[in-house]
Amino acid sequence: MPWGYTLGEKDFYPTPAWVTELLLDRFPPPAGRIVEPCAGAGAIVGELVRRGHGVWANEIGDGYRDSLVSLIGEHNVSIGDWYDVDRVPDGCTSLITNPPFSLLPDFAVHCLSMGLEYVALIMPIGVLFSEERAGFNRKYRPSGMINLVHRPWPNVRDVSWFVWEAGKEPMPMFSA
Ligand SMILES: C[S@@+](CC[C@H](N)C(=O)[O-])C[C@H]1O[C@@H](n2cnc3c(N)ncnc32)[C@H](O)[C@@H]1O
Repeated sequence: MPWGYTLGEKDFYPTPAWVTELLLDRFPPPAGRIVEPCAGAGAIVGELVRRGHGVWANEIGDGYRDSLVSLIGEHNVSIGDWYDVDRVPDGCTSLITNPPFSLLPDFAVHCLSMGLEYVALIMPIGVLFSEERAGFNRKYRPSGMINLVHRPWPNVRDVSWFVWEAGKEPMPMFSA
């Protein structure tokens, strides 16, 4: 646990629908399919499908397979470790997820290394602090953020959507 966060069982914290809706309203993704790299039971996937997006989902826990298949069909579901995925299917332009916080920032770096046009991740705002995390923030400065002041999970504090959009300037931000 590089950052010392202790979350739920295997970091399974399903994302409430309003959190995904907020993202899609404020930062609409471009045309094309969306990757959910650690989809859990499909809380984000379900909202994306409901809004008409095509989705390709990966998840490490085989127990979530049936739930994901029921949302997007077998050929759009992959069960495995996200670190073993080095390219996403053709037609995918975006990635949206709430990642396992215990694997940050590496998990985020892997998401940002796929050459996609749009990446949105829920992360603790602690990524912006301390010398080690400031290094991540300097290299991968987001173009937009949504601070989730109405906390999605009672025992998890201060999380934001971090959004990277191709062609948009990184947010002006300094760490000292
Ligand atoms: C915080 S939960 C969020 C689930 C889903 N993204 C959502 O928003 O409802 C994180 C998920 O990451 C999965 N996970 C943890 N490590 C993973 C890995 N290395 N590769 C893929 N999925 C992983 C967990 O099983 C869990 O379902």
